[in-house]
Amino acid sequence: MKMKFIKPISFFVATLVVISCSQKIVQPRVAFAQKTTLESRVDSVMKLMTLEEKIGQLNQYNGFWEITGPSPKEGQAAKKYDDLKKGLVGSMLNVKGVKDVKALQKIAVEETRLGIPLLFGFDVIHGYKTISPIPLAEAASWDLVAIKKSAEIAAEEAAAVGLNWTFAPMVDVARDARWGRVMEGSGEDPYLGSLIAVARVQGFQGTDLKARNTILACAKHFAGYAFAESGRDYNTVDVGESTLQNIIFPPFKAAADAGVRTFMNSFNELNGIPATGNSYLQRQILKGDWGFDGFVVSDWGSINEMIAHGYAKDSKQAAEIAINAGSDMDMESSAYVEYLATLVKEGKVKEATIDDAARRILRVKFELGLFDNPYLYCDENYERETVGKAAFQEGVLDIAKKSIVLLKNEKELLPLKKSGQKIVVIGALANDKTSPLGSWRIAADDNSAVSLLEGLKKYEGNQITYVKGADVAVGRTEFVWETKINTTDKSGFAEAITAAKGADVVIMSLGEHGLQSGEGRSRTEIGLPGVQQELLEAVYMVNKNVVLVLNNGRPLTIPWAADNIPAIIEGWQLGTQSGNAIAQVLYGDYNPSGKLPMTFPRNVGQLPLYYNYKNTGRPVMNEPESVFWSHYIDEKNTPVYPFGYGLSYTKFEYSNLKLSSNTFNAESEIEVSVNVKNIGKYSGKEVVQLYIRDLIASVTRPVKELKGFEMIELQPNEEKEVVFKINKKTIEFFTANGKWESEDGDFKVFVGSSSADTLEKDFTYLNN
Ligand code: BGC
Repeated sequence: MKMKFIKPISFFVATLVVISCSQKIVQPRVAFAQKTTLESRVDSVMKLMTLEEKIGQLNQYNGFWEITGPSPKEGQAAKKYDDLKKGLVGSMLNVKGVKDVKALQKIAVEETRLGIPLLFGFDVIHGYKTISPIPLAEAASWDLVAIKKSAEIAAEEAAAVGLNWTFAPMVDVARDARWGRVMEGSGEDPYLGSLIAVARVQGFQGTDLKARNTILACAKHFAGYAFAESGRDYNTVDVGESTLQNIIFPPFKAAADAGVRTFMNSFNELNGIPATGNSYLQRQILKGDWGFDGFVVSDWGSINEMIAHGYAKDSKQAAEIAINAGSDMDMESSAYVEYLATLVKEGKVKEATIDDAARRILRVKFELGLFDNPYLYCDENYERETVGKAAFQEGVLDIAKKSIVLLKNEKELLPLKKSGQKIVVIGALANDKTSPLGSWRIAADDNSAVSLLEGLKKYEGNQITYVKGADVAVGRTEFVWETKINTTDKSGFAEAITAAKGADVVIMSLGEHGLQSGEGRSRTEIGLPGVQQELLEAVYMVNKNVVLVLNNGRPLTIPWAADNIPAIIEGWQLGTQSGNAIAQVLYGDYNPSGKLPMTFPRNVGQLPLYYNYKNTGRPVMNEPESVFWSHYIDEKNTPVYPFGYGLSYTKFEYSNLKLSSNTFNAESEIEVSVNVKNIGKYSGKEVVQLYIRDLIASVTRPVKELKGFEMIELQPNEEKEVVFKINKKTIEFFTANGKWESEDGDFKVFVGSSSADTLEKDFTYLNN
């Protein structure tokens, strides 16, 4: 059936004086096409709008009623529906599928006075229905092209179901693995995190927002959210300016510079001021210093949460604080639509402030092409052809393989031989088709991932036996699917042990349930949940040839496994193609190339633990009898696996680190070169990493900071020279002057295969 195409009113109208909100527009209508520039198009719509309609643009509702069913008659849903018809809604979230999106868009475009189209937002965090690895896993690929591609796939699929806006990427630098949302970001490093932020923004938004395979991206959560005290989600955040500027802000700034069109603020307070009501963050930094001209959406209900924070006495005051602080769109608090008009009348909010927010939102709607075709994203045939298509499956398989990190491989247990082997697979996760989807896969179907067992069975040369052994402990999940599991049950151990005894190799798939990380899933213990650790030790007692495949959404504390188990693969939650990706790596059809984007601690008590720490006045002592240095009396300072760490089936040798000069200034640069040779048996990829240390500075600097990396591929015996450039930009930081600038002084440069395995040289920088 051909879609009836009704143009929004602004398509026709350029100027019109609107007298009251209820007045029907009749005449005059001037060809809108005459207005060419974006700003004048925005102006032409703004001129038509009443205050209430402008405020409506600032209002975002969750669509929880059955959209294509009968219209809701009572309660919240009826109020929302009514507001929608009155043009008091600018955006919906969680409405998906062409049928539903089209139904609501039709109301906005055809039934409201001005016909302004809606934005449809959704958490397309790592795919819509075709799920790619969790973002933390993708970060482990260090492959910006693959990460961008993954976002492109997500955008294309999401756009095909009617969506035009994703609440991603989350660009929060995270140092505390207790925080469940580390799965959603790029790990602990601001440099890697910035590059990945850019790749994701470019992947979602493409070069033309009007194209039907691109959607708006959203850099979130601005700011500091990952620094929640004790890793407990939504908890208080108190960080100094140096950490804010040097660690937390860079990926946000990079996203803004890359043209991200929306930002989301965050639930947390930052140094006493909730982020949602924080004008330093939103007005001074984001819209001021960075010149951001897109819009900021609040986090879910975060405007009203300022009441619980103790920062606003009621929803009305919360609305006043939020809008004045620069939160342009209200997600689900209803505070703007309820109170902003009154606040303007009372003189507490300037109409110009509302205008600015509305203009920002309209601007983005124009950029998306919604005024030219509000149904751009609403084609059911295209939806059918696009969702889950084969090319997406190939794409997510590719990034899944690249995300896997080989943590240990003794006795060359891996890659597995392809025939003649008795392989026993143990662990509930090996046979789980939902957990690999991870958290934030809200549109994906349960049981839609390829399990590890299914992936392994595609290799038919070996005999495969599966025994569950034990379940994964869960704790409360309360979201999407609930697993009621006895977390102390060891009744399956005996069968697992018996099976393991006769095996050539035992593959143990252990880790976290798919919803054990993510929002609201902070943990105080981050070892293998439930009885899995005991199962691992029991099986190892009878067969030492254990390959441990970890599936998890955060770094885990696995010191025993790291000491004892000969082969360990970090298999994260890799999405729809998880089992195929892990099997291909286990069999050597893909030689692992991932590197950890986050430190794996020995003990949860070490957290937050990260590679770019400060030296302190009492760093590592050479006198072991002294206790008066910065350490624990019961644990080492070092992690089990450091940032940047990851092995390959082959071996790489680093040599001949050279600098083209050991001094440079503002106009010059240094070339840093290193030779990397493949001295193993397989061809393989290596991420060559460059770090610096600024020895003395006006604000103390970390012991190491990542400043460059390059992925190279080498055949056995092949050697390549990798060359990096260091210039003024490389050494800039937020100094005691309150500016991003370079300071004269002595530096170290490190190049190597991880943050803890490097060659080093010295250099000096002099501004003049
Ligand atoms: C999360 C956001 C998310 C929003 C909408 C909130 O709970 O913090 O990241 O985009 O919900 O689903």
